Amino acid sequence: MTMDKFRCRAKTRSEEETAAFAQQLAAALAETDVVALVGKVGSGKSVFARALISALLAEAGRVEDIPSPTYTLVQTYEARFEIWHVDLYRLDEPREILELGLQDAFGSMLCVVEWGDRIAEFLPGNTVRVELEPVPGCWNSRIITVNTSCQAVAARIEGIQGSHE
Ligand SMILES: Nc1ncnc2c1ncn2[C@@H]1O[C@H](COP(=O)(O)OP(=O)(O)OP(=O)(O)O)[C@@H](O)[C@H]1O
Ligand SMILES: [Mg+2]
Repeated sequence: MTMDKFRCRAKTRSEEETAAFAQQLAAALAETDVVALVGKVGSGKSVFARALISALLAEAGRVEDIPSPTYTLVQTYEARFEIWHVDLYRLDEPREILELGLQDAFGSMLCVVEWGDRIAEFLPGNTVRVELEPVPGCWNSRIITVNTSCQAVAARIEGIQGSHE
């Protein structure tokens, strides 16, 4: 187990609050970071990814649809840097990411990876892990835990905070 250099938990009470939290993270990211989104079906990984990517596109003066890469596995975007949006739901085994070229993408562009825990052993050191968990009995709430074991990433993202700690 590697040690966390940064960890925070936030509770969001709506899709919009999750999107706002993702926008905060977007502003703190650098061009070769990896954001690994973790959480069960319907937890909000795509809501988070879409808000994060659209914030980066908006900053570069672009407005685009952000379709789910569930079938294509990868969608690419050009913002202040290149972005790969990856959804590994349909990945049968971790080695398939070699065919996707994902290991080359790590380290050369910003990668936002839904179901990132499916390739946990391949995630690079500069990964930000974002876990979304439903709250029993609170249909529109999520607990979001953000952590990284990378000091350089931690220094950039340590200012983010949810509306309810
Ligand atoms: N606080 C919240 N944050 C995020 N999404 C929320 C929240 N409350 C309700 N939702 C709803 O939960 C759903 C999340 O769907 P989303 O597609 O983002 O999940 P997912 O984790 O990507 O699922 P899948 O694994 O099936 O792709 C959306 O319908 C969204 O409106
Ligand atoms: Mg999804």
